[in-house]
Amino acid sequence: MAHVSELISTDIDSYLKSHEEKSLLRFITCGSVDDGKSTLIGRMLYESKMLFDDQLSALKHDSKKIGTQGNEIDFALLVDGLAAEREQGITIDVAYRFFSTDKRKYIVADTPGHEEYTRNMATGASTADVAIILIDAEQGVLTQTRRHSFIVSMVGVKKVLLAVNKLDLVNYSQEVYNQIVSDYSDFAENALDLESITAVPISALLGDNVVEKSEKTPWYKGETIMQYLENIEVKNQRKQTPFRMPVQWVNRPNSGFRGFTGLIASGETKVGDKIRLHPGGNESTIESIITWDGKLPKASAGQSVTITLNDEIDVSRGDIIATSTDPCGEADQFQSRILWMSDDAMIPGRQYILKSNTQSATLTLGRLKHRIDVNTLDHLPAKTLELNEIGVCNISLDKRIAFDSYENNQTMGGFIVIDRLSNNTVGMGLIDFALRRSENIHWQKMDVSKESRAEQKSQIPKLIWFTGLSGSGKSSIANILEKKLQSLGKHTITLDGDNIRHGLNRDLGFTSADRVENIRRVGEVAKLMVNSGLICITSFISPFESERKMVRSLVLENEFIEVFVDTPLSVCEERDVKGLYAKARSGQIPNFTGISSPYEPPKNPEIRIDTTKASAEEAANQIIDFITE
Ligand code: ADX
Repeated sequence: MAHVSELISTDIDSYLKSHEEKSLLRFITCGSVDDGKSTLIGRMLYESKMLFDDQLSALKHDSKKIGTQGNEIDFALLVDGLAAEREQGITIDVAYRFFSTDKRKYIVADTPGHEEYTRNMATGASTADVAIILIDAEQGVLTQTRRHSFIVSMVGVKKVLLAVNKLDLVNYSQEVYNQIVSDYSDFAENALDLESITAVPISALLGDNVVEKSEKTPWYKGETIMQYLENIEVKNQRKQTPFRMPVQWVNRPNSGFRGFTGLIASGETKVGDKIRLHPGGNESTIESIITWDGKLPKASAGQSVTITLNDEIDVSRGDIIATSTDPCGEADQFQSRILWMSDDAMIPGRQYILKSNTQSATLTLGRLKHRIDVNTLDHLPAKTLELNEIGVCNISLDKRIAFDSYENNQTMGGFIVIDRLSNNTVGMGLIDFALRRSENIHWQKMDVSKESRAEQKSQIPKLIWFTGLSGSGKSSIANILEKKLQSLGKHTITLDGDNIRHGLNRDLGFTSADRVENIRRVGEVAKLMVNSGLICITSFISPFESERKMVRSLVLENEFIEVFVDTPLSVCEERDVKGLYAKARSGQIPNFTGISSPYEPPKNPEIRIDTTKASAEEAANQIIDFITE
């Protein structure tokens, strides 16, 4: 085989163009750290006498030795280079490698094998036609193998090539190979949604059955890895999808030209096509499609274009332009499958940010319906998802977004979950379907407003939110504060942790998830109180910054007053008014704040009270001064 090389180019477009006549196969290699992914890819490139682009950075220093002539490549160096580069790739999620044969062009998604990088694997797999799952013959089918298989199947890969590697280390044993294939088939056949599983016995290191057929496995009659990749039919494997273009950029009208720029996510469009704009549903027709190379009559997925429309409709950054014959759905509640990717467990009830293409929204994860055991694929009851766990849950957003289900459209139906405080990506999700339940509930418009209720009470509504450790003095100060406000003629209400937990929240305990739900409910109640024109005082530990921030956003900016009762743990423990610290220390109370459950102190509270200096009376005055200012 004569090959050309286009390794590690960031420009997929130009790569695809240079081999326009050839069919494209995208595949991903999955395996644990030492399963031999780099060796396999290295072996394929090496035996296929690939030429290297000098952009292959890790090999650059030794480019003379590696040379530009395929047959001078040093195999070991090549494998090292690929591995080193892939690990660098951690920062960019996935390293895509491009190469081609006479027959086909290939894009390989190469991802790090460590457990913690499962998400990169999911990203790489989402566009793959074939997943090569590597198994170390000495180790057999591992949990990691099953996890990878489940994820590739979950993101829509239908064909798996099972590469049973390191066969040289088990004397090319047919029994070992057969056992592994049968173990894997038992797991995959009844559980994963795959079209085909093809197994090949290989030694990536020695080259057995990678490109050339091995004499060491006379019992194996099937294709080599390379033959499989060259021959497999991939047409229409992933669904033909309708036209979608997320708008990344709007050319302002004052430039005399109103165009909408974006990367076409799926399908194709041509001049004159009817389109619908999401969200909202305005319709128009495509007037022109413009690229760097000039105007085009049509364009399709993967191309970056600027579109102009025949009508002056209002298009904003983040909107989705879709074909009007098969438009997106719009909804704010979904059932979704979530892969959790953070060391910090997922917390149902907490707010995160959802990003789907160019759209983003505030996301609340609902209670988990179940978690999926990747070994047995059983549905297990679960309250949370830990790192690399997969579960099904309903999600709700603060606004409607345009969507397609993942099953119908891989690009539109996927989203990532971002932590609001750290900005880290903590999960990825796939939309199964929209929930109709919010559809027929509309906000009731009321004639009596918060303003009129407040006016009647001659006061400005406030939410005075105390936070601090148990025994820090929140409730004592809150109590004095409310008395003082009342004597000033103010209308008030106090919500207190110990009390609310006897009624509204009596079903909640002290796990992180329960505390999040505790604060969410209290926040909603406090908001109603503020809307009724009251000065609402709340006294909850409220240990997490994320939920305090969420509650802050429920009311107007100047209505929220965060009061941090800053009493050191040692002082609270010494006072131990309720005797709870002693119990917690002796292990009788699990998840006790400050001892076995975290407290995140506020960074910028409106008021900070140092109870080692100020009395409860002085603290209450400090707050009144702040309000009356
Ligand atoms: S929060 O963390 O969810 O905001 P909240 O303020 O409602 O807590 O309740 C805290 C009160 O519950 C404490 O003042 C204490 O009296 C009691 N309590 C019982 N168990 C715990 C625990 N494990 N951690 C903290 N407080 C506890």
